[in-house]
Amino acid sequence: MSKTQKGVPFCGTRQQQQQKQKDPSEGVRESLEKIKHKFIVMSGKGGVGKTSTSVNLALALADMGFKVGLMDVDIHGPDIPRMLGLSDMPGVTQDRKMIPIPYSDNLVAISIESLSLSKDDAIIWRGPIKHTVIQQFIGDVAWGSLDFLIIDSPPGTGDEPLTVAQLIPGAKAIIVTTPQEVALADIRKSINFCKTVKMEAFGLIENMSGFTCPHCGKEVELFGTGGGERTAKETGVNFLGKIPFDTNMVKCGDSGVSYRAKYPDSPVTKAFADVAKRMADLVK
Ligand SMILES: Nc1ncnc2c1ncn2[C@@H]1O[C@H](COP(=O)(O)OP(=O)(O)O)[C@@H](O)[C@H]1O
Ligand SMILES: [Mg+2]
Repeated sequence: MSKTQKGVPFCGTRQQQQQKQKDPSEGVRESLEKIKHKFIVMSGKGGVGKTSTSVNLALALADMGFKVGLMDVDIHGPDIPRMLGLSDMPGVTQDRKMIPIPYSDNLVAISIESLSLSKDDAIIWRGPIKHTVIQQFIGDVAWGSLDFLIIDSPPGTGDEPLTVAQLIPGAKAIIVTTPQEVALADIRKSINFCKTVKMEAFGLIENMSGFTCPHCGKEVELFGTGGGERTAKETGVNFLGKIPFDTNMVKCGDSGVSYRAKYPDSPVTKAFADVAKRMADLVK
């Protein structure tokens, strides 16, 4: 498959594209039939840890033995390939579907970054094209049978989460927040968005919740703690857990090293394992 032309959704020759365009919803339906649980990771604000959460949850679920797909619909800021250190291009099956990039036996991923011409290209697409691209990410990708599809999204309630809600019946939202009041206020917007588009607000995760000083071992509440759990109770959304702050997450994310692989016994890795277990138990 050739790389994406700027501003043009990808995949195949014009003739093949026209054939596919006849009924793209059929491909979407076929892919979704084989995926048991679909989750979109959302937040009101940027930088609260959606991508870190998507990646680490996907890895934790994969380590539990589940087959997991990771889909990056943050079209303007795709971070998943960098966080997982993925640089390969997706392959193509005989029936012209993209093969998602394997990270491990149980985890595959797809991101717009794997398809764009250069990592520094700015993608300037309006809503309808984003809709088409996300449709292709579902229907034109050979996801195979999955237990979980984890979808990383940009901040806010724009085209990307709206498209996911429209295209994926039964998708559930996981809302990530940091503990400060200003971030917590945004949770309600995300929950109201879910209500409006009839998507289940499944769970809430409080990220960057507390920090243990590596020098003196003292607990520091960087942004406070506990607000996520309180808000989850108030809004009736499952509280999935608190993830502490760890400076190594920033270093790993920036250098394309999997945090989970490098720090398998850290409090953050354990916290993500607990969240993944809670999720798996809740959907049983
Ligand atoms: N628990 C954490 N501890 C320390 N740094 C974190 C944590 N979660 C995320 N980060 C860092 O915060 C920054 C933003 O995280 P990211 O996952 O990209 O957020 P978002 O996808 O919501 O914009 C990144 O540098 C990431 O490494
Ligand atoms: Mg992100």
